[in-house]
Amino acid sequence: MSATTKVPGAQRYLPQKRTLSALRAAAAGCHGCELYRNATQTVFGEGRRGAPLMLVGEQPGDHEDRQGHPFVGPAGRLLDRALHDAGIDPESVYTTNAVKHFKFTRREGKRRIHQKPSRTEVVACRPWLIAEIEAVHPQLVVCLGASAAQSLLGPAFRVSASRGELLSPPTESSWQAQLLATVHPSAVLRDSSDRREAYRAFVDDLRVAGGAVTKGNA
Ligand code: URA
Ligand code: SF4
Repeated sequence: MSATTKVPGAQRYLPQKRTLSALRAAAAGCHGCELYRNATQTVFGEGRRGAPLMLVGEQPGDHEDRQGHPFVGPAGRLLDRALHDAGIDPESVYTTNAVKHFKFTRREGKRRIHQKPSRTEVVACRPWLIAEIEAVHPQLVVCLGASAAQSLLGPAFRVSASRGELLSPPTESSWQAQLLATVHPSAVLRDSSDRREAYRAFVDDLRVAGGAVTKGNA
């Protein structure tokens, strides 16, 4: 896919049939980069085809890796609350990540510390994300943080410069959906200077996203 990719990438693992269930089954066996080696399992996206909103995080965390579902840990709880406060029905959302395996280091004993996925790993995993967008066909994709935003909008994209704006997909994209980038819910949890303000700004961005999609769509 990219000249900088030193790993095979997920493309060769994509099934011919591109339904969500076929994609999920195939992704369970993906060895497109090294991250499958130490993680417990592939954490694929969840939600229904036709969901008007797709939320894209960075990668599964410790809880997600163990349970096999996206956003079931502390970041997920904050996200659920923010969606509620933004007036977004959870049923209208498909939730996934830019990278489908947990990347971590081990500190003394057994605590597993999240590590940011590299650009190479984000690019390696992108075929799953693109296939999900094509299968779900959302009206709007919300990128939660830089890893998701840069996967879909390129490495030069800066969330800080463009958060909360409705964006068009890059011109050569195989998919059609508007985009909106905002911060990652973990960044809201970590914001020690003014967490309340960080949360309010996050909810504001989600409200823009919710307002941009047609309610009650199939
Ligand atoms: N952070 C993410 O980016 N995704 C998850 O699924 C959980 C935490
Ligand atoms: Fe495949 Fe993505 Fe997991 Fe790498 S992180 S092995 S590309 S599913």
